[in-house]
Amino acid sequence: MKRREFIKTSGLSAITAWAGPSLLLSACHTEEDMIGEDNWIVEGSFNQPLFRPAIVEGNTTLNVQTTTAQMLNNSSSSILSYRNGLLGNTIKATSGETVSVQVQNNLSEETNIHWHGLIVPEDMDGHPKDLIAGGGSFTYTLPINQRAGTYWYHPHPHEATARQVFKGLAGMFIVTDSEEAALNLPSGDFEIPLIIQDKRFSGSSLDYSPSEDEIMTGYLGEHIIVNGIYAPVASIAKGWQRLRVLNGSTARVYNLAFSNGMSFHVIGADGGLLATPENVNSLMLAPGERADVLVDFSGIALGQSVYLQSKKFSQYNVQGRQQFNIMKFVMAQATAPAFTLPATLSTINMIPVASVVKTRTFDIAALVGGMGGHGGMGRHSIGGKTFQMDRVDETVQANTTEIWEFDNWMGDEIHPMHIHGVQFQILERTGGRGNLIATEKGWKDTVLVMPGEKVRVIMTFPSYTGVFVFHCHNLEHEDDGMMLNFEII
Ligand code: C2O
Ligand code: CU
Ligand code: CU
Repeated sequence: MKRREFIKTSGLSAITAWAGPSLLLSACHTEEDMIGEDNWIVEGSFNQPLFRPAIVEGNTTLNVQTTTAQMLNNSSSSILSYRNGLLGNTIKATSGETVSVQVQNNLSEETNIHWHGLIVPEDMDGHPKDLIAGGGSFTYTLPINQRAGTYWYHPHPHEATARQVFKGLAGMFIVTDSEEAALNLPSGDFEIPLIIQDKRFSGSSLDYSPSEDEIMTGYLGEHIIVNGIYAPVASIAKGWQRLRVLNGSTARVYNLAFSNGMSFHVIGADGGLLATPENVNSLMLAPGERADVLVDFSGIALGQSVYLQSKKFSQYNVQGRQQFNIMKFVMAQATAPAFTLPATLSTINMIPVASVVKTRTFDIAALVGGMGGHGGMGRHSIGGKTFQMDRVDETVQANTTEIWEFDNWMGDEIHPMHIHGVQFQILERTGGRGNLIATEKGWKDTVLVMPGEKVRVIMTFPSYTGVFVFHCHNLEHEDDGMMLNFEII
């Protein structure tokens, strides 16, 4: 049964039983409101300086640990981290090199690392079966053979991914190459990583305790943090800056825009540079997705500020019903290095549809398992199935091309679908928004499928064989079982 039908049938029968038809209209209204409890963002004062994770090039060590950090004003919170401080360092590598990352797990629970967007051998991909015991260690050897882009890393132990990410385990992984370097994009102080997440606090402690209903919608925090800091402010210069934006939230989608309405230029997506810059006024970014953005801030007067915000995008889902500020940029410097937006960024060869050997369709709307699931509504599923560690659900041939369709036509929930081990192109979206947004004109590994939408993606599997997962990147949905295995043979 679909969630909406469940609420309709149960809600209507209860109401008609005791109140008659006069309450039916309000019942319908209530039903809409029930796609998520109201959860309003609490905006801070935007006076904490934006933290920038350190950049490490080449081989490194990640010490997974419980530590404390100051996320809120004047109070410290217990967090999980890859270092003694917020988040993990930004790992930077050049395409063509091999990076080894030694992970020391100092937690008293299992964890592992998935290199989201990187195409690496099966045993390095952080499949939920490949865990590092508490107290144990593992060295990931990552051959980097792909386009420059903003990738990221996070844990992937089944049924613990959402909590571990929420508690602080995440970092960026930046790949560079000569094509990107030749563009001389804004760099150093003018290249700003933004990891946007939402958190819930109880006092100054991070509170991860999703209710049954919050597993349906995803766990939404009231505090928006950027790079681990609540309501931060960053100084900018008059001119161009590059923002590498990652949505590292477990479930929240942002509709990014600036408070003064100015447009900005999307130059890259999950899998690196677009062919040409796309000028937009707003940009939807779902959990797991990245956007590489160039902003010309020269219209802001010295001493003035502008907010990065999330605009409303849905009346129906609790997500998207509120506009709120994410962070503040304050103009502090009269000049930035000269830069001219290039007309062309890269070449994207479209994968020919004629090369497709198989098309697979996945229903992502259904809740399965009947009364066994949350509040009796069932669990999130893909193709009617929930995750089983040892079951291979789909088998694909290495180096062949397929189309996968994610069908949320009948669904009520927001599902950002992610496939490991591959980068894909988006062919089309039918229903709902009905078109492709700026980031979707480039290489992707995660695609937002809103209720009422169907999205078709095309991809050529790599030569790495083995078992990989694909799943919803709403991490509450993922941990609920909205994940399947596929094997490349
Ligand atoms: Cu970022 Cu399997 O996910
Ligand atoms: Cu991934
Ligand atoms: Cu989902």
